[in-house]
Amino acid sequence: MQDLANKVAVITGAASGFGRELAIQCAGAGMRLALADLDEAGIGATIALLPAGTETVTRRCDVSKPNDVEGLAEATYARFGAAHLLFNNAGVAVSGPTWTTTLDDWKWVLDVNLMGVVHGIRSFVPRMLAQGEPAHIVNTASAAGLVSPPGSSVYCVSKHGVVTLSECLHHELALDGLPIGVSVLCPAFVQTGIGHSERHRPADLADANPLGEAYAEQMRKAIAAGRLTAADIARITLEGVREGRFYIITHPTIKQAIEIRMQDILGDRLPTNTLRASRR
Ligand SMILES: NC(=O)c1ccc[n+]([C@@H]2O[C@H](COP(=O)([O-])OP(=O)(O)OC[C@H]3O[C@@H](n4cnc5c(N)ncnc54)[C@H](O)[C@@H]3O)[C@@H](O)[C@H]2O)c1
Repeated sequence: MQDLANKVAVITGAASGFGRELAIQCAGAGMRLALADLDEAGIGATIALLPAGTETVTRRCDVSKPNDVEGLAEATYARFGAAHLLFNNAGVAVSGPTWTTTLDDWKWVLDVNLMGVVHGIRSFVPRMLAQGEPAHIVNTASAAGLVSPPGSSVYCVSKHGVVTLSECLHHELALDGLPIGVSVLCPAFVQTGIGHSERHRPADLADANPLGEAYAEQMRKAIAAGRLTAADIARITLEGVREGRFYIITHPTIKQAIEIRMQDILGDRLPTNTLRASRR
């Protein structure tokens, strides 16, 4: 999708981080926006950063709830009659050793990071196919969807799931010659609110990994050391959309870690700890 002007972008997780920067840059490209998040005040703050005159529809939406995502699709099509670029971007992170993870950790993170993307696909793809104009979907995974660093099994399972989900979707659409492109966004550590995801944890899923905080502190240090900004990620993502790239790997050094993992698999070796490579 090369020309974004006047097209409609739908962005989940639009109140912070990548979602906010995607909103700013999509608006800068002349797009109309459907912005969704749990955090309504944060959506308002994003809107305040958009160029004057940007057309928007906003929705409080918990992406883990299929009815909320369906409501987002209804609101988008009621307002604009189309959705051309869907960013399934909202996400949360937890940390800690696998054997002390809680069932609440698994339910919360998989429902947001993985099922949130599933709900986006189920609600938007049928409408996109009916609208008679090409469309493109960007699913936010992570470098953690391509490698397996210690202390992040819940997050990694969710993000590896987003990568394979996106690959399957791409194949299905391409096999049928359908006019919807797919990309999967895989950044490494970037300074956003992701290191403080607990702010979003629902009260009924409050049982957190008792050893999570020490790992989360390490993650926050790695995030603070990240060189690329959320604005850089948004810019690289929109370049990838315009170029029709499937894998949008924003930090080139992560490719070394992916290569090592693939060599481990093909060479029948024990897995290498690639965390150091993914921090660069
Ligand atoms: N920042 C990084 O280092 C990094 C790296 C790789 C991937 N990611 C992924 O990027 C995406 C965006 O995260 P970010 O880094 O901008 O973090 P962020 O915390 O700044 O933004 C995430 C947004 O998602 C929203 N959100 C959380 N749960 C939600 C839910 N259930 N329904 C709707 N909205 C919800 C939050 O309110 C917030 O506005 C996530 O999927 C994250 O996993 C981040």
